[in-house]
Amino acid sequence: MGKLNSKFISIILFALVVIVSSEVIFEERFDDGWEKRWVKSDWKKDNNTAGEWKHTAGNWSGDANDKGIQTSEDNRFYAISSEFPEFSNKDKTLVFQFSVKHEQKLDCGGGYMKLLSGDVDQKNFGGDTPYSIMFGPDKCGDNTKKVHAILTYNGTNHLIKKEVPCETDQLTHVYTFVLRPDATYSILIDNVEKQTGSLSSDWDLLPAKKIKDPSAKKPEDWDDKKYIPDPEDTKPAGYDDIPKEIPDTDAKKPEDWDDEKSGEWTTPTIPNPEYKGVWKPKKIKNPNYKGKWKAPMIDNPDFKDDPELYVFPKLKYVGVELWQVKSGSLFDNVLVSDDPEYAKKLAEETWGKNKDAEEAAFEEAEKKRQEEESKELLAEVESDDKEEAENDDNEGDDSDNKSKFEETKEFDAAHDEL
Ligand SMILES: *[C@@H]1O[C@H](CO)[C@@H](O)[C@H](O)[C@H]1NC(C)=O
Ligand SMILES: *[C@@H]1O[C@H](CO)[C@@H](O)[C@H](O)[C@H]1NC(C)=O
Ligand SMILES: *[C@@H]1O[C@H](CO)[C@@H](O)[C@H](O)[C@H]1NC(C)=O
Ligand SMILES: *[C@@H]1O[C@H](CO)[C@@H](O)[C@H](O)[C@H]1NC(C)=O
Repeated sequence: MGKLNSKFISIILFALVVIVSSEVIFEERFDDGWEKRWVKSDWKKDNNTAGEWKHTAGNWSGDANDKGIQTSEDNRFYAISSEFPEFSNKDKTLVFQFSVKHEQKLDCGGGYMKLLSGDVDQKNFGGDTPYSIMFGPDKCGDNTKKVHAILTYNGTNHLIKKEVPCETDQLTHVYTFVLRPDATYSILIDNVEKQTGSLSSDWDLLPAKKIKDPSAKKPEDWDDKKYIPDPEDTKPAGYDDIPKEIPDTDAKKPEDWDDEKSGEWTTPTIPNPEYKGVWKPKKIKNPNYKGKWKAPMIDNPDFKDDPELYVFPKLKYVGVELWQVKSGSLFDNVLVSDDPEYAKKLAEETWGKNKDAEEAAFEEAEKKRQEEESKELLAEVESDDKEEAENDDNEGDDSDNKSKFEETKEFDAAHDEL
């Protein structure tokens, strides 16, 4: 009993230690004062293509007071970053999480964030600044709709080899990247795991373990012919005597044939249906077939396992660096932590709590937008009507004007029905 008790107590103590050691390395909810914590980069400013961030909850949200930062100008570069106390994820789980809402109905653009290491000149943070992890959604047209998870190892960026589809609607979604000390990872969207696996299988961070032996050569006597001519097959007697062409027995010398002018008439020839081409022995399966030759695999001399493959020893900054054709991407609730449970709770308390109200607000905004659009269309049609009346005497309208005219007619008809 006493033994059991002490075991039980040590389990409780262990649990306490685990809870206490859970650490939030960086958390940003973009409450007032956020500007003191973030550095807007001067990147592209001299080019007049640096876009402005707007502190807002967006055009629709579940809570108008819960603001994030949103890209606010089209065709602009955006770069902003924040510093946190240097952190190594050695022997720890790394959780990188944030939410993003593409209000602009993103056609082509990213919604990813970066973790950077070492010393970064935040005022010059931009597209060329080396990063450690780039994570988040990327959409372009109908072909690219994926979650990026790029890890930088030994100075090279490595993309995840698995497809992880991202969300494409105009609502807030939470993206979470979890990297564990056993070199496994998970990608979650809205607290649901979308992909999981190991660093060694899903990224090519290290050189291949095995390679084809570069010194191996196909042996001279390696037989890789699947079929061979049948040595038993013989040419049938008289085969070569069959002519390719034979005289056309149906042909007759035309009655008006003039021997003197056209020469003596000869019977034309036609292809001989009996003729089967040059004789070839039939093919049989090669009894000595050894299969396609492949170089044997050997240990890659360049491969060196790295037990610290998952370690980013000097994480120190979180940043967003984007090019936006159409602006409207809103980032919020950025978290760097060592505790997936904390991340989950944060997502629930923010995105989870607000998502139904946000969806309702979005539908309301969409309805309004559509009403505005049809009002504008009506105004356009009415002004066209006026022009049309003024131009009534004009005959021979070009086709552009005609189609406009027809549109007007259709619209009027539809309108009359109401
Ligand atoms: C500004 O940026 C655009 C887009 O990258 C580039 O095409 C252009 O050359 C730049 N202009 C200057 C003055 O650097
Ligand atoms: C938000 O609403 C404003 C005002 O109606 C509009 O100009 C803007 O384009 C909207 N932004 C997005 C991203 O839809
Ligand atoms: C790191 O990169 C260098 C240069 O590209 C290369 O020579 C070296 O083998 C790489 N080391 C590892 C462990 O991948
Ligand atoms: C037809 O449209 C063109 C350009 O939109 C305009 O210049 C022209 O005057 C129009 N013609 C008539 C007959 O309305």
